[in-house]
Amino acid sequence: MILTVTLNASIDKLYLLDRAVPETVMRVREVHNTPGGKGLNVSRVARKLGEPVTAMGFTGGFNGQYLESMLASTGVIPRFTHVQAETRSCINCWDLSNDRSTEYLEPGAPVSPEEVERFLRDFDAELPGADAVSISGSVPSGVPADLYARLIGRCRALNKPVILDTSGRLLAESVSACPTLVKPNEDEIGSLLGDKPGDEAGRAAALKHLNGRGIRYAVLSLGADGAMLAFDGECVHGRPPRIQPRNTVGCGDSMVAGFAVGLARNMDILDAFRMALAVSAASAMSLLTGDFEPGDYENLLRDVHVSGCRAGA
Ligand SMILES: Nc1ncnc2c1ncn2[C@@H]1O[C@H](COP(=O)(O)OP(=O)(O)OP(=O)(O)O)[C@@H](O)[C@H]1O
Ligand SMILES: [Mg+2]
Repeated sequence: MILTVTLNASIDKLYLLDRAVPETVMRVREVHNTPGGKGLNVSRVARKLGEPVTAMGFTGGFNGQYLESMLASTGVIPRFTHVQAETRSCINCWDLSNDRSTEYLEPGAPVSPEEVERFLRDFDAELPGADAVSISGSVPSGVPADLYARLIGRCRALNKPVILDTSGRLLAESVSACPTLVKPNEDEIGSLLGDKPGDEAGRAAALKHLNGRGIRYAVLSLGADGAMLAFDGECVHGRPPRIQPRNTVGCGDSMVAGFAVGLARNMDILDAFRMALAVSAASAMSLLTGDFEPGDYENLLRDVHVSGCRAGA
């Protein structure tokens, strides 16, 4: 079972508009409501790859109940800690005339110290049953800055592989707890290490530096250029074939899901990497975030190419 952590969950509403015209009344052609938050994208993709998934985090109010029921209908088991504040909504207005979108993200209400403690107890109850853990995204106010580091410490104490995918201060604070795998993109690794690595050798050096800080698998995602992976003194670059992308938001979450499935199944890391590359590229081809067509995934899996990187220091 893969245990996912999404502390800042939301109901994501995708509005499909024939054409977005500011300062007018627009009729929405289609509405798609999905359980949102990066960890829930990971959850849906990992489930669709065939793994049992339990999702944890905070939910509240009627929106929280709605989120859990939608999640359960995808086969993900919801084990959320229920809080006082109503779960937020995030709206993505998609203009079908040019495939451009505008997002409105609600701030979300703070959680209390007692609610955080309750979450930790719930996490401790689920952790022994997990084969891999994935911690994603931002946290609501009220969550202490070291919470991710504490979760990672608990995973390590029980020998559970744990993936961390977050950004900014939260990433910097939590990386020192040595998660098994991190997957920053270029901006995230730049702000983590103080400088955006310029070329392939620089990127390899940055990833090896993370290995040196105790992170077994350091992954850098590069959008359409695929991703790099450093481990055990090696560094490889994986490239998907050229595809027609439709919606690349959440592709990083799909990549994390691929790695989580690979780690949960104890797969060879290079096979897990191929799976992560194929499922994230398949997810770029899908309009819905955290979704993919199994046929696209199967085709891409045959065509991803992994080779050695130019040396990094
Ligand atoms: N246009 C694309 N073509 C093929 N694969 C893509 C494309 N965009 C993304 N991917 C795949 O998805 C992976 C993750 O993408 P990206 O680097 O954009 O992640 P990210 O910035 O973390 O995204 P997010 O945080 O929105 O999930 C890439 O490493 C690649 O394998
Ligand atoms: Mg990302």
